[in-house]
Amino acid sequence: MAETRKAFICGYPIAHSRSPMIHGYWLKKYGIAGTYEPIEVAPADFAQFVAKLKANGFVGGNVTIPHKEAAFQAVSRRDEAAELIGAVNTLWFEDGSLVGGNTDALGFAANLDEYVPDWTDVGPAVVLGAGGASRAVIQALKERGFKDIRIVNRTIARAQELADRFGAGVSAHGTSDTGELLSDAGLLVNTTSLGMAGKGKADTLPADPGLLPRHAIVTDIVYVPLETPLLAAARKQGLRTVDGLGMLLHQAVPGFEKWFGRRPEVTRELRDMIVAEMSETVSAAKK
Ligand code: ATR
Repeated sequence: MAETRKAFICGYPIAHSRSPMIHGYWLKKYGIAGTYEPIEVAPADFAQFVAKLKANGFVGGNVTIPHKEAAFQAVSRRDEAAELIGAVNTLWFEDGSLVGGNTDALGFAANLDEYVPDWTDVGPAVVLGAGGASRAVIQALKERGFKDIRIVNRTIARAQELADRFGAGVSAHGTSDTGELLSDAGLLVNTTSLGMAGKGKADTLPADPGLLPRHAIVTDIVYVPLETPLLAAARKQGLRTVDGLGMLLHQAVPGFEKWFGRRPEVTRELRDMIVAEMSETVSAAKK
């Protein structure tokens, strides 16, 4: 019998992560003898957790908030995306050493490839927000050939830090410039938490999609709710929109392949299953 391969996702908190459902679906679908368990690890315990991975029989796993930067420090080697983004979300072993990768940029790009295949030919991109998620998005945009990437952030210094980090073609702006920056943009990406369920006023828009040209695409990396106020407003304007759930699904692909040896497919059935689970969670919370 094949040995059971063990993978994990660690975070703090971890209860709401959808990743166990995604990997559990693939393990079952492909009949692989493996597990993928959520483990709550407090920040003070993270270094110890990583040091014991091999002794505890893990082949690797995912790292989520708030451990992505600590994971970057903890590994012996990182892939190129992790180096550029400055954070690690996927761990695996190579020749006995722990390697850290970042699959968020790949996930972001694969989601747009699936729904709007021409997304790389639309002109300048405006990225709202300058946190960890924004870095992954900017890396994806650079990798896919965007020549004019405009970061807009409430705190302009953070946007400037990213512009300096990513170099040519990436500029930093405060929110008062948003209207002008949108007027000739082809892609608008929200990476801020504005519009996320449970964060502030539900109808706050991080930018007005009505200021974009008609050919523009709008995407949000927030996926709870699935249709954020920004996406709803963009859809009403007749713009093309892509929700953030596909990024979550696609970023899971490389990790699964590394740990379990098979490249899994992001299917409609998988997406529908997560959407159904999300709506159950929302209705249970309202009761
Ligand atoms: P993540 O790693 O998920 O990107 P983060 O590092 O906390 O999270 O970044 C959150 C982003 O959302 C930041 O760009 C933040 O703006 P600041 O850098 O000015 O803090 C942005 N953000 C959060 N709440 C916001 C609000 N109410 N208005 C505007 N921007 C907000």
